[in-house]
Amino acid sequence: MNKIPYGRQNIDQNDIDAVVLTLQSDYLTQGPKVKKFEVKFSEYVGAKYAVAVNNATSGLHLSVLALNLYKGDRVITTPITFAASANCIRYAGAEVWFADIDPDTYLLDINSVKELIESKPKGFFKGIIPVDFAGLPVNMEEFRALADMHNLWIIEDACHAPGGYFTDSKSEKNFCGNGRYADIGVFSFHPVKHIACGEGGMLTTNSKELYEKLMLLRTHGITKDNMQENHGNWYYEMIELGFNYRLTDFQSALGITQLEKNKKGVERRNKISLAYKKAFKGKIKFQDLPKGTYNAHHLFIIEVENRKELYDFLHSKGILAQIHYVPVHTMPYYKNIGYADAGLVHAEKYYSRCISLPMYPTLTDEEQKYVIENVLSSIYE
Ligand SMILES: Cc1ncc(COP(=O)(O)O)c(C=O)c1O
Repeated sequence: MNKIPYGRQNIDQNDIDAVVLTLQSDYLTQGPKVKKFEVKFSEYVGAKYAVAVNNATSGLHLSVLALNLYKGDRVITTPITFAASANCIRYAGAEVWFADIDPDTYLLDINSVKELIESKPKGFFKGIIPVDFAGLPVNMEEFRALADMHNLWIIEDACHAPGGYFTDSKSEKNFCGNGRYADIGVFSFHPVKHIACGEGGMLTTNSKELYEKLMLLRTHGITKDNMQENHGNWYYEMIELGFNYRLTDFQSALGITQLEKNKKGVERRNKISLAYKKAFKGKIKFQDLPKGTYNAHHLFIIEVENRKELYDFLHSKGILAQIHYVPVHTMPYYKNIGYADAGLVHAEKYYSRCISLPMYPTLTDEEQKYVIENVLSSIYE
């Protein structure tokens, strides 16, 4: 059997044709495919506006800037995420404050966030960045209520979760990044995620003001609207210090065909998840699924006592399991700036036990059976 990775992209002829066609067109960088991808993506998640960017890290950076994060401000996030969710706060010169995770869902624990906020004077924090970790949607309605009480903004890091949803108190489904409760949603199109663009990302929002700010910052802070002067058709003005965080047209063409497959891909991911759960129920702990929630399943994570042994054993069998994640606050960079003893007991316990098993739409039933047999034999034999 070939090696089985923990995740992989699903590129078919349709994707390849779309990219080739765009390469043969007049536009390579920002052209009509970018706009089309933005419109299709905003419709898919149910948000009013979408802004394509060159990766989610750039998207997180633009988001904190659009929400006016400055040096010395403070933002709360989860330690169990990819470093970029926290790093964007540092890019603005602000302080990262980590709250603990829920030991069953592995998501940022709202009670831990609440405790942290209430232990500080009013106005101490500026925002919260919850992460739809592994594809499991955060209940953003609850976070919005808490954020409103303390005048905080919310950036939803939905990089793992296009197509996931939670059900709110009005029994309405809220797709991750729909902008109803969070101010901005951030998605990644790195190949190991649901939608592969090589590199790429998308920001979603329901706020026209934020949309315009994000668009401006994506392209150097340059505009042709409401200019102070106008010397002719060539003239433009740079009114903010922005960046070049644009996605190309050929990446957007790929994004569009990838997006068209996402619903089916998430369904397949959920089928794979069900088969894992059936095999492990009562034997091995896995991520909890709150009622009314649809996990987009970027990852399938289990917890075991002998994690290192299981990791080494699976790799010896060609099963390339992975660990998500080394807690961000334990990274040397964060340790050196004072997070060594953050007291995040659930996050640290989770890290000592977690391991991600193969999860991607093209994983075959036969391959999954092989993974399950090896996990069980490592633990029970
Ligand atoms: C939760 C999370 N946020 C942000 C990112 C950054 O995404 P990108 O690689 O597109 O910059 C990742 C990528 O792994 C991620 O997993």
